[in-house]
Amino acid sequence: MAGGGSRRWLRVLLGVFSVVLLLCGIGTAIATWGWTRAVVDTSGEVDFVNRLAVPPLAPSRIDDRGRRVFDLRAQPGQRDFGQGGPTATWGFNGDYLGPTLRAERGEEVLVNVVNGLGEPTTVHWHGMHLPAAMDGGPHQMVRPGATWSPRWKVDQPAATLWYHPHPHGATADHVYRGLAGMFLLDDAASRALPLPRRYGVDDFPVIVQDRKFRSGGRLDHGRGALGGVGILGDTLLVNGTVGPYLDVTTERVRLRLLNGSNGRTYDFGFADGRGFALVGTDGGLLAAPHQTGRIRLSPGERAEIVVSVRPGERPVLRSFPPNTGVDFFNSRFTGGDDTFDVLELRAAGTLAPAPEVPGRLVPVDRLDPASAAEQRRFRLNGRQINGRAMDPDRIDFAVTRDTTEIWELDKQDGTPHSFHVHDVQFQVLSVDGAPPPPELAGWKDTVLLTAGRPIRIIARFADHADPDMPYMFHCHILDHEDQGMMGQFVVVEPGQRPGRPPAGHGHGQHR
Ligand code: C2O
Ligand code: CU
Ligand code: CU
Repeated sequence: MAGGGSRRWLRVLLGVFSVVLLLCGIGTAIATWGWTRAVVDTSGEVDFVNRLAVPPLAPSRIDDRGRRVFDLRAQPGQRDFGQGGPTATWGFNGDYLGPTLRAERGEEVLVNVVNGLGEPTTVHWHGMHLPAAMDGGPHQMVRPGATWSPRWKVDQPAATLWYHPHPHGATADHVYRGLAGMFLLDDAASRALPLPRRYGVDDFPVIVQDRKFRSGGRLDHGRGALGGVGILGDTLLVNGTVGPYLDVTTERVRLRLLNGSNGRTYDFGFADGRGFALVGTDGGLLAAPHQTGRIRLSPGERAEIVVSVRPGERPVLRSFPPNTGVDFFNSRFTGGDDTFDVLELRAAGTLAPAPEVPGRLVPVDRLDPASAAEQRRFRLNGRQINGRAMDPDRIDFAVTRDTTEIWELDKQDGTPHSFHVHDVQFQVLSVDGAPPPPELAGWKDTVLLTAGRPIRIIARFADHADPDMPYMFHCHILDHEDQGMMGQFVVVEPGQRPGRPPAGHGHGQHR
């Protein structure tokens, strides 16, 4: 009897053991599947069959007060991206993205922004130095059907800037649907250089965005469960084109790269390993070109590169696995292990000659740290900055007009974060105590942070005091921004106290 009892127990034990083993196996299989599936690699797999769309230059007119006037209308639309059916989209003056605005340093510009959507939005001029009331942040909401007409004087060096909505809580959604465009600035110094600058001929916008499509071509708005940078798409759009190629007719071509993605970081280079000249960053041209093979861009950052081609060549612009500033586990779930083929350049059989990239570009005067009137620290952690989440009614601090400040940026958690500030272009003083690398040596308005490697930046807040109307500073991973990783500062006259932001700022709608 006793023997039968223990045999029964043994059987039960064995049964339990194999169930546990099976569960472990399933668990490991799911984990492995999830780990493996989290990688996207489209290298060598993209059919470059679609001619790259080039956003049209926005028409403009000069009004009776000498201002250059543009018209932008945010509107719903439909675009066939070749993803199994038409995709419902939003765009400016069209169905996806918007025209390229272009203005000259010293010009007064006025933009009539019409909201043709069914919900409030804003248009922010990313990288532009202008009064806070014209900035298009969360306090300049445009109701459906309404027109907002900001105007300002362009007073900064030639640069590749861009525009996009900024309604608090809904920026990610509005940009994801397609609302964004470029804003190019020119000046005499840049025009005097022998750099390619014929728009759509040898000088091209390259707006890179990742999207996820569902069956029938619908945009997938689902955020990944892991990683926490929001939507990571497996399909790249360049200027709204899937699988794009660009016909190159000149020996050298200038590409104005914009990471217009919500949460994905890229590390651009060429599949054949060729180098290129980095000539500009967020806020303008560098002092000298930087010969390199890679340029990493986190969401919102720009780079201008000049690439040389030989007749008949077809080099492919690729994004290599970017260092997103986090550990290997978090890297996997934030796009850090992903590779994308981005754009094929198709050089013609005969190419028009193009001058060499000059050894010097424009003077970039270094801001003097000794002249700084104030030092501040910004610690990014979770979805907060300095332990606080965005409150549209709270002004976090005031900067005195016509002073220079040093800000120390520091990221503390395992999630990628970047730092973007409105109103000014800054210079990087140091990265973890060391002088900035060449790609961070020019004018910047957005920078990717790495845990344990604080970045010190310096900026001059030259003008546009307004004690009541704040400028934003925030993480440019748009989900983080929407979730509160943003703060507000005002620029005040010497001795002036910060006031109170306007009441009744509309909150965007969460989806
Ligand atoms: Cu590109 Cu505050 O934004
Ligand atoms: Cu901005
Ligand atoms: Cu962030």
